[in-house]
Amino acid sequence: MCGIVGYIGGRQACTVLLDGLKRLEYRGYDSCGIAVINGEGDLRTTKRKGRIQGLEEALKSGPMDGSVGIGHTRWATHGHPSDANSHPHCDESGEIAIVHNGIIENYVDIRHELERGGHTFKSETDTEAVVLLIAEKLKNGAADLLEAVRAALEDVVGQYALCVMSSREPEKLIAVRSGAPLIVGVGDEENFVTSDAAPVLPYTKKVIYLGEGEIAVLTRDSVRGVSMEGDDVPLEIKEIQWSMEQAERMGYETYMLKEIFEQPEALRRTYYSLLPKGWFEIEHEGERLTTHHLRKIDKIYLVSCGTAYHAGMVGKYFLDITTDLDIQTDFSSEFRYRRLKLDRNKFVTVISQSGETADTLASLRAAKSMGSSVLSIVNVRESTIARESDHVIYTLAGPEIGVASTKAYTSQIMAISMFAVFLGHLRGDISDEERDYYLNGLKDVPDKVERVLENTSRIRECAESIAGARSSFYLGRGFNFPTALEGALKNKEISYMHCEGYSGGEMKHGPIALIEKGFPVIAICTRSATYEKMISNIKEVAARDGYIVTIASEGDNFLESVSDRVLYVPEVIEELSPMVNVVALQLLAYYIAECRGCDIDKPRNLAKSVTVE
Ligand code: M6R
Repeated sequence: MCGIVGYIGGRQACTVLLDGLKRLEYRGYDSCGIAVINGEGDLRTTKRKGRIQGLEEALKSGPMDGSVGIGHTRWATHGHPSDANSHPHCDESGEIAIVHNGIIENYVDIRHELERGGHTFKSETDTEAVVLLIAEKLKNGAADLLEAVRAALEDVVGQYALCVMSSREPEKLIAVRSGAPLIVGVGDEENFVTSDAAPVLPYTKKVIYLGEGEIAVLTRDSVRGVSMEGDDVPLEIKEIQWSMEQAERMGYETYMLKEIFEQPEALRRTYYSLLPKGWFEIEHEGERLTTHHLRKIDKIYLVSCGTAYHAGMVGKYFLDITTDLDIQTDFSSEFRYRRLKLDRNKFVTVISQSGETADTLASLRAAKSMGSSVLSIVNVRESTIARESDHVIYTLAGPEIGVASTKAYTSQIMAISMFAVFLGHLRGDISDEERDYYLNGLKDVPDKVERVLENTSRIRECAESIAGARSSFYLGRGFNFPTALEGALKNKEISYMHCEGYSGGEMKHGPIALIEKGFPVIAICTRSATYEKMISNIKEVAARDGYIVTIASEGDNFLESVSDRVLYVPEVIEELSPMVNVVALQLLAYYIAECRGCDIDKPRNLAKSVTVE
């Protein structure tokens, strides 16, 4: 995930920026850079693909003096990791520099407009469009940098945090928050901008959390708040009480909780990174999935482990709807030992957060050795699975540190859902209208997830009511059968409660023998094609005095009459509901584990990446 640092004061900006960027390394990045304005008013930029050490090496041969600067760690979204795509980006005159986190949704339109006006781009990024737009506003009469930034942002659609400076106004930094977090650190005769608190903690504990749509104009000894409309806004200085380690968790108790709350942003990033080109245009190592090849595929295997396997199951349900292909899911640990009959038209898709899972890697190699082309859906760039695959779709969840996978899971489902929609459309199995219907629905998913996260108190109370149980069942059907499996996996991983996930229809074929008075059953019963069937399954549990917690669509009050507790989630079409419903189950597992006093980020016996067979 990208990170921003800005500095204005009496120290060498270069030193502060490099120190700050190192403190943001834990977020993950693939390139980095800084820009500094020196005493003569010249703006200089140094940026590198790769680690901060590479940037430091480059600076040894060309040190940058000056006490105003901005820096950035980039996690590629628009364009590959490269020197040119790294931030800061400058306008053509080299007078204005910008660093940016987030996504500019309409950057293609802005870019085309600017190109028509004679501007040339040096990078593939959405960010460069913003800095050129700011320059254009200055050229067209904006009184100063602040006015130009405000005017440019009127044309911009997206979620972003920005920090901008200009060698024509070297005594100021401009920071803007709109959908991505940004903090101002308030020092003594010096001020800072940062995307999370870690970089400022060595210098000051006084911070301002910028609100949505707020701009901060920083000088060495002042910070002024301005609205997007240009009115002054009051800024509240707060004192940070966190340790360094807490700062990396942004104040959350655990990485897992932080990552649960990062899901809307992770989903948006993944969606917008895949939307403009269509997944099939993704190039890897110079090789491109051709439409000819994609039209000839006759079978898709979705191969993965654990949580990633559940994402594959959701993918199968989606691909069953959007294509006429034969789709099969496999555990990597089974796939690699099966007697497979693979060839070029059998398309193997491996799914992995880490990109290092041993069984998934072995499956990839087995599939390739039999002539299949392999597409991977991976979160960690430069991982072995990403490097060895023929084609890669990156989920842009950002680094996932909690052992229990959360944001990687929902991002995997987002990626595979887009894969399903684009592939189905390409093959002529779904119409333009159906494609647009799904893409519009997918676009709204992050907002729906946000709504689940807004009201956690009911989930917490529910967790308290079942935290003492020895066992529990999770039931779901159709698209939410994998959600039931994932909810049960999350709970057992971090709370050590025995949990089983079942398809609702399977209950009466054995598991129901275990239901007795007070036995917790978590039933996913949001509106779907199997809604009525699921109600029958809930009644089967009720008849045996089980303790029923139902996940229901908002407004569905009927379920109160057949449940002990109901957790409401926003309604979405069934195909997209796994990404929304699972968030309630992640939180339920989380609060159960908390009640049981478990070490949530380091569950016993588990490793983040399983690199042994
Ligand atoms: O890195 P991967 O996605 O390949 O990992 C697969 C599983 O090991 C992983 O999902 C595991 O099940 C998680 N601990 C689940 O929370």
